[in-house]
Amino acid sequence: MDAGQLALLLEVSQALQGPLQLKPALERALQKLESEGMVLRAAVVLRGDEGDLRTVAAAGAGFESKRARNELAEGVAARVVQSGRPAVLPALAPDSRREPARPDRSQTTQVCMPILLDGKPAGALCVELDDQEPGDHGAAQRFFGALAGIIAAALEAQRGIEEERRSLFEENRLLRQQLLQRYDFSNLVGTSGPMRQACEQIAQVAPTDTTVLIRGESGTGKELIAHALHYGSLRAKKPFVKLSVASIPDSLVESELFGYEKGAFTGAQTRKRGRFDLAEGGTLFFDEIGELNAAAQVKLLRVLQEHEFQRLGGTETIRANVRILAATNKNLEAAIVAGEFREDLYYRVNVFSIFVPPLRERKPDILLLAEHFLAKYSRQHRKAIRRMAAPATDMLMSHHWPGNVRELENTIERAVLTCEGGVIHGHHLPPTLQTAESSGTLLQTSLGEAVEQYEKDLILDALKSARGNRARAARLLCSTERVVNYKVRKYRIDWQRFRDRAAGPGGPGRA
Ligand SMILES: Nc1ncnc2c1ncn2[C@@H]1O[C@H](COP(=O)(O)OP(=O)(O)OP(=O)(O)O)[C@@H](O)[C@H]1O
Ligand SMILES: [Mg+2]
Repeated sequence: MDAGQLALLLEVSQALQGPLQLKPALERALQKLESEGMVLRAAVVLRGDEGDLRTVAAAGAGFESKRARNELAEGVAARVVQSGRPAVLPALAPDSRREPARPDRSQTTQVCMPILLDGKPAGALCVELDDQEPGDHGAAQRFFGALAGIIAAALEAQRGIEEERRSLFEENRLLRQQLLQRYDFSNLVGTSGPMRQACEQIAQVAPTDTTVLIRGESGTGKELIAHALHYGSLRAKKPFVKLSVASIPDSLVESELFGYEKGAFTGAQTRKRGRFDLAEGGTLFFDEIGELNAAAQVKLLRVLQEHEFQRLGGTETIRANVRILAATNKNLEAAIVAGEFREDLYYRVNVFSIFVPPLRERKPDILLLAEHFLAKYSRQHRKAIRRMAAPATDMLMSHHWPGNVRELENTIERAVLTCEGGVIHGHHLPPTLQTAESSGTLLQTSLGEAVEQYEKDLILDALKSARGNRARAARLLCSTERVVNYKVRKYRIDWQRFRDRAAGPGGPGRA
């Protein structure tokens, strides 16, 4: 191989590794061969998914025609792909001689090299050469064999990329599906009156484009409701974008919202898309909207009124097709009076409001939510926890839950993590719940008392499992009936309440 040929190989291999799609890159590589006078014509034939052969790139006179390309794929290339062996033909099939602008056939030679992937022929590189010395095709075979190898490497890389893209696409689809399921509002746990009312409101307003203000204390589930509104709308397949107003410095809120053009201010080296851009077609959720500064309030009001905005430092007016949701735990009416929140913006945002009551005001939901989180975190932490002991549920019910559902969720996750057996007991709950005055028995200070409470919990639990049968409860505890009887008396446990009523007297309840 001479230096010119090597340089050409290098150039072709770089073209094939470049950013171009494989087909145009191949096309360009073949054109290069032709323009350098290495070949009269050249083509790459590849096997398709169904095993059919197709000419994917070609260069040189006559190959513009589809027919000539097909002939190639059906003729010599087909044989080479089938056998996996190179072919050298001194002349082309007679009927292709009718093509215009072709050199004299007697002086051309066709060389066709297989393109091997994993040792199997996946296609062929076919070239037509001028002025070959009859009988000396060794050099040509070496050169075009090397080129076929480079094309094979590029193909392999491309297949890897395609595979990766396919798997990313599939992953994306699955994630979207999971999001849809996760935030489907059937995931909002709660059957209390206020929760049912909130669900009805969500169902009513979700499919519309109405701006919704979600109000409630911290941890009540405002963000979950915002998700349910988005994933229950026609915008579900478009982005849900959140802006946590409180977590962004005042000076950055506007650029976060609207983005900026390159050079808008020192440091703006590239154009940046804002949240309005990112949420195009979907939903933009303003968390803690009460924290929005005065300048940003004015700009947001403008978007809400005119449905358009400008990037910082830009002149182009961009139309915004975005649904706005907002949440706050602040008293916005008081903020208006204090001059901290614009009244006109308040009316634009508060078109439809959903109030999420604090957890302490929807007691029936506490146990449902606790069960829900117990199942969720048992699964997540791979623990086989079946239920909560009665004293633990009493503690949950009597707590005030200042942190609302989030506090309950954290409490249950912590209990799941510390629980060794299959049941959550009172001592798995945090001290804030232990000292709740309302739970009466729970003001433990000494080790002795804590141990006694634990022992009592265990016995209650075993009695419950054994449906009041004290002998069986003793077996469950690896203890004796005598000890269990003694403890039952000591702790004044009403074991009869666990008896299986259906069994009647003489049933398993008699111990
Ligand atoms: N009804 C519910 N069913 C199931 N999970 C809930 C429910 N309400 C709240 N949660 C869960 O409680 C946690 C807190 O909810 P969320 O983040 O939506 O509260 P928030 O009102 O936005 O709180 P903050 O005001 O502090 O931002 C989340 O993990 C959420 O999934
Ligand atoms: Mg929130």
